[in-house]
Amino acid sequence: MANEPKKPLLEITGLTRRFGGLTAVNGLSLTVGEGELVSVIGPNGAGKTTLFNLISGLDAPDAGTVTFEERDVTGFTAERLASFGLARSFQHGRVFGNLSVLDNVLVGAHTRLRAVKPRIPVVGPLVELALALIRPPSVRAEEERLRAEAKEIIALFGERLTPRLDKPAHSLSYANRRRVEIARALALHPRLLLLDEPTAGMNPTETAEMLEIIRSLKARGLTILLIEHKLDLVMQLSDRVVVMDHGARIAEGLPAAVASDPAVIEAYLGHKAVGAANQDSANQDGGRDAEGDASRILVAH
Ligand SMILES: Nc1ncnc2c1ncn2[C@@H]1O[C@H](COP(=O)(O)OP(=O)(O)O)[C@@H](O)[C@H]1O
Ligand SMILES: [Mg+2]
Repeated sequence: MANEPKKPLLEITGLTRRFGGLTAVNGLSLTVGEGELVSVIGPNGAGKTTLFNLISGLDAPDAGTVTFEERDVTGFTAERLASFGLARSFQHGRVFGNLSVLDNVLVGAHTRLRAVKPRIPVVGPLVELALALIRPPSVRAEEERLRAEAKEIIALFGERLTPRLDKPAHSLSYANRRRVEIARALALHPRLLLLDEPTAGMNPTETAEMLEIIRSLKARGLTILLIEHKLDLVMQLSDRVVVMDHGARIAEGLPAAVASDPAVIEAYLGHKAVGAANQDSANQDGGRDAEGDASRILVAH
Protein backbone atom coordinates (compact mmCIF):
# COMPACT_ATOMS: atom_id res chain seq x y z
CA MET A 1 0.00 0.00 0.00
CA ALA A 2 2.91 2.29 0.69
CA ASN A 3 3.50 2.87 -3.01
CA GLU A 4 -0.09 3.75 -3.74
CA PRO A 5 -0.35 7.47 -4.45
CA LYS A 6 -2.57 9.26 -1.96
CA LYS A 7 -5.88 10.50 -3.26
CA PRO A 8 -6.05 14.27 -3.17
CA LEU A 9 -8.12 15.66 -0.33
CA LEU A 10 -8.98 18.71 -2.41
CA GLU A 11 -9.07 18.77 -6.18
CA ILE A 12 -9.94 21.86 -8.18
CA THR A 13 -10.30 21.84 -11.93
CA GLY A 14 -10.82 24.72 -14.34
CA LEU A 15 -12.19 27.01 -11.65
CA THR A 16 -13.35 30.36 -13.01
CA ARG A 17 -15.00 33.39 -11.44
CA ARG A 18 -15.82 36.56 -13.33
CA PHE A 19 -16.83 39.90 -11.88
CA GLY A 20 -18.25 41.86 -14.82
CA GLY A 21 -15.40 42.19 -17.29
CA LEU A 22 -12.77 41.01 -14.82
CA THR A 23 -11.84 37.33 -14.55
CA ALA A 24 -10.65 37.08 -10.95
CA VAL A 25 -10.01 33.32 -11.13
CA ASN A 26 -9.30 31.99 -14.58
CA GLY A 27 -9.44 28.24 -15.25
CA LEU A 28 -7.44 27.36 -12.16
CA SER A 29 -6.59 23.76 -11.33
CA LEU A 30 -4.99 22.68 -8.10
CA THR A 31 -4.77 19.64 -5.83
CA VAL A 32 -3.95 19.32 -2.16
CA GLY A 33 -2.99 15.89 -0.85
CA GLU A 34 -3.75 14.56 2.61
CA GLY A 35 -1.31 16.06 5.14
CA GLU A 36 0.18 18.49 2.64
CA LEU A 37 0.80 22.18 3.21
CA VAL A 38 0.32 24.03 -0.05
CA SER A 39 0.83 27.78 -0.26
CA VAL A 40 -0.83 30.08 -2.75
CA ILE A 41 1.16 33.21 -3.44
CA GLY A 42 0.89 35.99 -5.99
CA PRO A 43 0.66 39.76 -6.27
CA ASN A 44 -2.25 41.68 -4.77
CA GLY A 45 -5.33 41.21 -6.90
CA ALA A 46 -4.10 37.87 -8.29
CA GLY A 47 -7.36 36.18 -7.21
CA LYS A 48 -6.17 34.31 -4.11
CA THR A 49 -8.98 35.34 -1.75
CA THR A 50 -11.56 34.79 -4.49
CA LEU A 51 -10.17 31.27 -4.90
CA PHE A 52 -10.65 30.65 -1.16
CA ASN A 53 -14.19 32.01 -1.37
CA LEU A 54 -14.95 29.54 -4.15
CA ILE A 55 -13.45 26.60 -2.28
CA SER A 56 -15.14 27.41 1.02
CA GLY A 57 -18.60 28.07 -0.41
CA LEU A 58 -18.76 31.81 0.17
CA ASP A 59 -18.96 32.36 -3.55
CA ALA A 60 -19.92 30.13 -6.48
CA PRO A 61 -17.79 29.65 -9.60
CA ASP A 62 -18.91 30.45 -13.16
CA ALA A 63 -17.11 27.30 -14.33
CA GLY A 64 -15.03 24.46 -12.97
CA THR A 65 -15.33 22.01 -10.12
CA VAL A 66 -14.26 21.65 -6.51
CA THR A 67 -13.92 18.08 -5.25
CA PHE A 68 -13.40 17.44 -1.55
CA GLU A 69 -12.71 13.91 -0.39
CA GLU A 70 -13.82 12.63 -3.78
CA ARG A 71 -17.20 14.33 -3.49
CA ASP A 72 -18.16 17.07 -5.94
CA VAL A 73 -18.90 20.00 -3.64
CA THR A 74 -19.01 22.75 -6.27
CA GLY A 75 -21.48 25.43 -5.21
CA PHE A 76 -22.17 23.89 -1.79
CA THR A 77 -22.88 26.35 1.01
CA ALA A 78 -20.17 27.31 3.48
CA GLU A 79 -22.10 25.68 6.30
CA ARG A 80 -22.39 22.38 4.49
CA LEU A 81 -18.70 22.44 3.62
CA ALA A 82 -17.83 23.21 7.23
CA SER A 83 -19.78 20.12 8.23
CA PHE A 84 -17.50 18.09 5.93
CA GLY A 85 -14.47 19.49 7.76
CA LEU A 86 -13.52 22.45 5.63
CA ALA A 87 -12.59 25.41 7.83
CA ARG A 88 -11.12 28.78 6.95
CA SER A 89 -9.84 32.03 8.36
CA PHE A 90 -10.42 35.37 6.66
CA GLN A 91 -7.90 37.89 5.37
CA HIS A 92 -9.39 40.64 7.50
CA GLY A 93 -10.38 38.54 10.49
CA ARG A 94 -13.99 37.82 11.30
CA VAL A 95 -14.97 37.17 14.90
CA PHE A 96 -18.19 37.69 16.85
CA GLY A 97 -17.32 40.97 18.56
CA ASN A 98 -19.74 40.66 21.45
CA LEU A 99 -18.90 37.05 22.25
CA SER A 100 -16.02 36.17 24.56
CA VAL A 101 -12.86 34.57 23.26
CA LEU A 102 -14.01 31.21 24.65
CA ASP A 103 -17.48 31.48 23.13
CA ASN A 104 -16.06 32.41 19.73
CA VAL A 105 -14.07 29.20 19.77
CA LEU A 106 -17.05 27.20 21.03
CA VAL A 107 -18.99 28.34 17.97
CA GLY A 108 -16.54 26.29 15.91
CA ALA A 109 -17.12 23.22 18.09
CA HIS A 110 -20.91 23.59 17.84
CA THR A 111 -20.73 23.75 14.05
CA ARG A 112 -19.00 20.40 14.21
CA LEU A 113 -21.56 18.89 16.58
CA ARG A 114 -24.49 20.03 14.48
CA ALA A 115 -22.84 18.26 11.59
CA VAL A 116 -22.48 14.87 13.29
CA LYS A 117 -25.86 14.84 15.02
CA PRO A 118 -28.63 13.12 13.10
CA ARG A 119 -31.04 15.70 11.77
CA ILE A 120 -34.60 15.22 12.94
CA PRO A 121 -36.76 17.63 10.98
CA VAL A 122 -39.15 19.83 13.00
CA VAL A 123 -38.80 17.92 16.26
CA GLY A 124 -34.98 18.16 16.21
CA PRO A 125 -34.73 21.86 17.09
CA LEU A 126 -37.38 21.42 19.81
CA VAL A 127 -35.43 18.58 21.38
CA GLU A 128 -32.29 20.71 21.24
CA LEU A 129 -34.12 23.62 22.88
CA ALA A 130 -35.53 21.37 25.61
CA LEU A 131 -32.08 19.95 26.31
CA ALA A 132 -30.62 23.45 26.45
CA LEU A 133 -33.28 24.58 28.94
CA ILE A 134 -33.30 21.51 31.17
CA ARG A 135 -29.57 20.86 30.86
CA PRO A 136 -29.54 17.25 32.05
CA PRO A 137 -26.20 15.93 33.35
CA SER A 138 -25.26 14.45 30.00
CA VAL A 139 -25.62 17.86 28.31
CA ARG A 140 -23.67 19.58 31.07
CA ALA A 141 -20.89 16.99 30.79
CA GLU A 142 -20.75 17.51 27.04
CA GLU A 143 -20.56 21.29 27.49
CA GLU A 144 -17.73 20.88 29.98
CA ARG A 145 -15.86 18.64 27.60
CA LEU A 146 -16.22 21.17 24.78
CA ARG A 147 -15.09 24.03 26.99
CA ALA A 148 -12.02 22.07 28.08
CA GLU A 149 -11.19 21.29 24.48
CA ALA A 150 -11.70 24.91 23.41
CA LYS A 151 -9.30 26.00 26.16
CA GLU A 152 -6.72 23.52 24.94
CA ILE A 153 -6.97 24.92 21.42
CA ILE A 154 -6.70 28.47 22.78
CA ALA A 155 -3.59 27.40 24.71
CA LEU A 156 -1.88 26.71 21.38
CA PHE A 157 -1.48 30.48 21.20
CA GLY A 158 0.51 30.56 24.45
CA GLU A 159 -0.33 33.40 26.79
CA ARG A 160 -1.77 35.56 24.03
CA LEU A 161 -5.37 34.44 24.53
CA THR A 162 -5.61 32.35 27.69
CA PRO A 163 -5.66 35.36 30.08
CA ARG A 164 -8.44 36.86 27.92
CA LEU A 165 -10.85 33.91 27.76
CA ASP A 166 -13.81 35.91 29.03
CA LYS A 167 -13.05 39.18 27.26
CA PRO A 168 -15.33 40.18 24.38
CA ALA A 169 -13.57 39.71 21.05
CA HIS A 170 -14.09 43.39 20.14
CA SER A 171 -11.75 44.38 22.97
CA LEU A 172 -8.86 42.36 21.53
CA SER A 173 -5.95 43.57 19.43
CA TYR A 174 -6.11 42.88 15.70
CA ALA A 175 -3.50 40.12 16.02
CA ASN A 176 -5.47 38.47 18.82
CA ARG A 177 -8.70 38.57 16.82
CA ARG A 178 -6.88 36.73 14.06
CA ARG A 179 -5.71 34.13 16.57
CA VAL A 180 -9.27 33.67 17.86
CA GLU A 181 -10.46 33.11 14.32
CA ILE A 182 -7.89 30.40 13.72
CA ALA A 183 -8.74 28.79 17.08
CA ARG A 184 -12.40 28.74 16.06
CA ALA A 185 -11.51 27.08 12.75
CA LEU A 186 -9.51 24.45 14.65
CA ALA A 187 -12.43 23.74 16.99
CA LEU A 188 -14.24 22.47 13.94
CA HIS A 189 -11.68 19.61 13.78
CA PRO A 190 -11.03 20.46 10.15
CA ARG A 191 -9.90 17.96 7.56
CA LEU A 192 -8.66 20.93 5.55
CA LEU A 193 -7.74 24.32 6.95
CA LEU A 194 -7.67 27.37 4.66
CA LEU A 195 -5.67 30.28 6.06
CA ASP A 196 -5.91 33.61 4.26
CA GLU A 197 -2.87 35.70 5.21
CA PRO A 198 -2.76 34.58 8.86
CA THR A 199 0.12 36.93 9.66
CA ALA A 200 -1.31 40.07 8.04
CA GLY A 201 -0.93 42.99 10.43
CA MET A 202 1.44 41.05 12.68
CA ASN A 203 4.90 42.24 13.73
CA PRO A 204 7.98 40.01 13.28
CA THR A 205 7.68 38.41 16.75
CA GLU A 206 4.00 37.63 16.23
CA THR A 207 4.74 36.35 12.73
CA ALA A 208 7.41 34.00 14.09
CA GLU A 209 4.90 32.70 16.66
CA MET A 210 2.31 32.09 13.96
CA LEU A 211 4.88 30.27 11.87
CA GLU A 212 5.52 27.88 14.79
CA ILE A 213 1.79 27.34 15.31
CA ILE A 214 1.26 26.48 11.65
CA ARG A 215 4.32 24.25 11.75
CA SER A 216 2.90 22.37 14.76
CA LEU A 217 -0.49 21.95 13.07
CA LYS A 218 1.25 20.52 10.04
CA ALA A 219 3.31 18.20 12.26
CA ARG A 220 0.05 16.84 13.66
CA GLY A 221 -0.96 15.89 10.16
CA LEU A 222 -3.42 18.68 9.41
CA THR A 223 -3.82 19.48 5.70
CA ILE A 224 -3.41 23.20 5.10
CA LEU A 225 -3.91 25.54 2.15
CA LEU A 226 -2.22 28.82 2.96
CA ILE A 227 -2.31 32.24 1.35
CA GLU A 228 0.61 34.26 2.62
CA HIS A 229 2.49 37.34 1.55
CA LYS A 230 5.49 36.79 3.80
CA LEU A 231 7.54 34.64 1.50
CA ASP A 232 10.10 33.77 4.13
CA LEU A 233 7.33 31.97 6.02
CA VAL A 234 6.05 30.35 2.81
CA MET A 235 9.53 29.03 2.02
CA GLN A 236 9.90 27.51 5.47
CA LEU A 237 6.50 25.85 5.73
CA SER A 238 5.35 24.75 2.30
CA ASP A 239 5.56 21.32 0.74
CA ARG A 240 4.48 22.94 -2.51
CA VAL A 241 3.85 26.48 -3.72
CA VAL A 242 1.31 27.57 -6.31
CA VAL A 243 1.83 31.00 -7.82
CA MET A 244 -1.16 32.93 -9.16
CA ASP A 245 -1.24 36.00 -11.34
CA HIS A 246 -4.30 37.50 -13.05
CA GLY A 247 -6.43 34.60 -11.78
CA ALA A 248 -4.31 31.86 -13.33
CA ARG A 249 -1.63 29.54 -12.07
CA ILE A 250 1.70 30.71 -13.49
CA ALA A 251 4.00 28.35 -11.58
CA GLU A 252 3.88 25.46 -9.17
CA GLY A 253 6.54 23.43 -7.42
CA LEU A 254 8.90 23.16 -4.50
CA PRO A 255 9.43 26.47 -2.70
CA ALA A 256 13.03 26.95 -3.84
CA ALA A 257 12.23 26.13 -7.48
CA VAL A 258 9.28 28.52 -7.55
CA ALA A 259 11.31 31.34 -6.01
CA SER A 260 13.81 31.22 -8.87
CA ASP A 261 11.22 30.75 -11.64
CA PRO A 262 11.57 33.63 -14.14
CA ALA A 263 7.79 33.80 -14.68
CA VAL A 264 7.29 34.27 -10.94
CA ILE A 265 9.92 36.96 -10.65
CA GLU A 266 8.38 38.69 -13.66
CA ALA A 267 4.91 38.58 -12.07
CA TYR A 268 6.23 40.21 -8.93
CA LEU A 269 8.16 42.81 -10.88
CA GLY A 270 5.24 43.60 -13.14
CA HIS A 271 3.18 44.50 -10.10
CA LYS A 272 4.54 46.23 -7.06
CA ALA A 273 6.39 43.62 -5.00
CA VAL A 274 4.03 42.01 -2.51
CA GLY A 275 6.35 42.52 0.43
CA ALA A 276 6.88 46.14 -0.47
CA ALA A 277 3.15 46.69 -1.00
CA ASN A 278 2.48 45.24 2.43
CA GLN A 279 5.16 46.92 4.42
CA ASP A 280 5.38 50.30 2.79
CA SER A 281 2.24 51.47 1.13
CA ALA A 282 3.45 55.05 1.57
CA ASN A 283 6.30 54.45 -0.84
CA GLN A 284 5.08 55.64 -4.22
CA ASP A 285 8.44 55.27 -5.90
CA GLY A 286 7.23 52.48 -8.21
CA GLY A 287 9.42 50.20 -10.30
CA ARG A 288 12.94 50.44 -8.96
CA ASP A 289 12.03 49.80 -5.34
CA ALA A 290 9.61 47.09 -6.32
CA GLU A 291 12.36 45.40 -8.28
CA GLY A 292 14.81 45.49 -5.39
CA ASP A 293 12.23 44.13 -2.98
CA ALA A 294 10.98 41.40 -5.27
CA SER A 295 14.44 40.03 -5.86
CA ARG A 296 15.31 40.22 -2.20
CA ILE A 297 12.10 38.54 -1.08
CA LEU A 298 12.16 35.85 -3.73
CA VAL A 299 15.70 34.71 -2.98
CA ALA A 300 15.37 35.02 0.80
CA HIS A 301 15.11 31.87 2.86
N1 LIG B 1 -16.93 40.80 -5.04
C1 LIG B 1 -16.15 41.32 -6.00
N2 LIG B 1 -16.66 42.11 -6.95
C2 LIG B 1 -15.88 42.64 -7.93
N3 LIG B 1 -14.56 42.42 -8.03
C3 LIG B 1 -13.98 41.63 -7.10
C4 LIG B 1 -14.73 41.05 -6.02
N4 LIG B 1 -13.91 40.31 -5.26
C5 LIG B 1 -12.68 40.43 -5.82
N5 LIG B 1 -12.72 41.23 -6.91
C6 LIG B 1 -11.60 41.56 -7.77
O1 LIG B 1 -10.99 40.34 -8.16
C7 LIG B 1 -9.57 40.47 -8.21
C8 LIG B 1 -8.96 39.45 -7.31
O2 LIG B 1 -9.18 39.84 -5.96
P1 LIG B 1 -8.72 38.96 -4.74
O3 LIG B 1 -9.21 37.58 -4.94
O4 LIG B 1 -9.15 39.65 -3.50
O5 LIG B 1 -7.14 38.99 -4.90
P2 LIG B 1 -5.97 38.66 -3.87
O6 LIG B 1 -6.57 37.99 -2.67
O7 LIG B 1 -5.02 37.78 -4.64
O8 LIG B 1 -5.32 39.98 -3.53
C9 LIG B 1 -9.27 41.90 -7.83
O9 LIG B 1 -9.11 42.66 -9.02
C10 LIG B 1 -10.50 42.33 -7.07
O10 LIG B 1 -10.70 43.72 -7.16
MG1 LIG C 1 -6.55 38.45 -0.66
